[in-house]
Amino acid sequence: MSQHHASHPGHGHRHGHDHHDSTHLDWSEMASLLERQAEIASPAYAEAAAWLGTLAPVQGVRRILDVGSGPGVVTSLLVEAFPAAEAVAVDGAPELLTRARARAEARGLGARVSTRHAELPGGIAALGQADLIWAGNSLHHMGDQSAALAEFAGVLNPGGLVVLVEGGLPRRHLPRNIGIGRPGLEARLDAAHTEWFGEMRAELPGSKDEPDDWRALLAGAGLTPAGTRTFLVDVPAPVSPAVRELVLAHYERLRDGLAVRLDADDKETLDRLLDPADALSLHHRTDLFHLTAHTVHTARKG
Ligand SMILES: C[S@@+](CC[C@H](N)C(=O)[O-])C[C@H]1O[C@@H](n2cnc3c(N)ncnc32)[C@H](O)[C@@H]1O
Repeated sequence: MSQHHASHPGHGHRHGHDHHDSTHLDWSEMASLLERQAEIASPAYAEAAAWLGTLAPVQGVRRILDVGSGPGVVTSLLVEAFPAAEAVAVDGAPELLTRARARAEARGLGARVSTRHAELPGGIAALGQADLIWAGNSLHHMGDQSAALAEFAGVLNPGGLVVLVEGGLPRRHLPRNIGIGRPGLEARLDAAHTEWFGEMRAELPGSKDEPDDWRALLAGAGLTPAGTRTFLVDVPAPVSPAVRELVLAHYERLRDGLAVRLDADDKETLDRLLDPADALSLHHRTDLFHLTAHTVHTARKG
């Protein structure tokens, strides 16, 4: 995610304990949040997929791997954008793959979308060759990103594309002054999240500390960078109930996951924002919006 919008600090729930500030991610627990988030970003992802169609011959893309697919919202968009392709949604969380399958079937794409449970990057070589590999906010969950990219390059057909969604802009839901606490809450949440993200990465198996120069990492895997673009997700106020629910779920995770990194005032502000009895809470505010941007990096083999 980009670290800003795709990684979610929250409870670890490991061994039945409440792990405040855990860097462990329970992806299944996040299924609805991931799904709603991707649904709201769908117009931006569809635009990104259409752009990919200008970089790769649309009819020539026959097999797509959506690596770290989560609930498969983008998997379905990709097969819609590449009508000659079948796609494999690959993820380490079986519950998310069940959602990916159900979504594809509901959209009449069941015959062209399959799912594969794999703990990456170990399982990449077994996924078979592909013309397009999409890794949406998933590469940064692999300890050694360079090694994972080299594996992606290994299963890519000549002329094929690797596509990374990484970076972009941190999401924003609230104006600077929300009438509670100190103005600038979201900037301080970003700072706390950036710290959390660094620790999350440091604890990944085989973690390697390297700069997030995505084009350089792609080139290091023997690929030729083929263009980078950023796609805006812009949902202004007044938001629908679904967007409000997404913002509430996001803030609940932030309160649970980042509390130990925030000062008492900001924790109190988060509690008020989440309290349905508070007129200024996220439940009732009229100033809520959803604004973020996803950066898409591409590179070609051969
Ligand atoms: C932030 S979510 C992104 C989901 C989806 N690509 C999207 O953009 O909506 C990251 C996904 O990567 C998966 N993931 C993280 N680490 C993984 C690993 N080592 N092996 C397989 N899947 C992994 C998670 O289960 C999760 O579904």
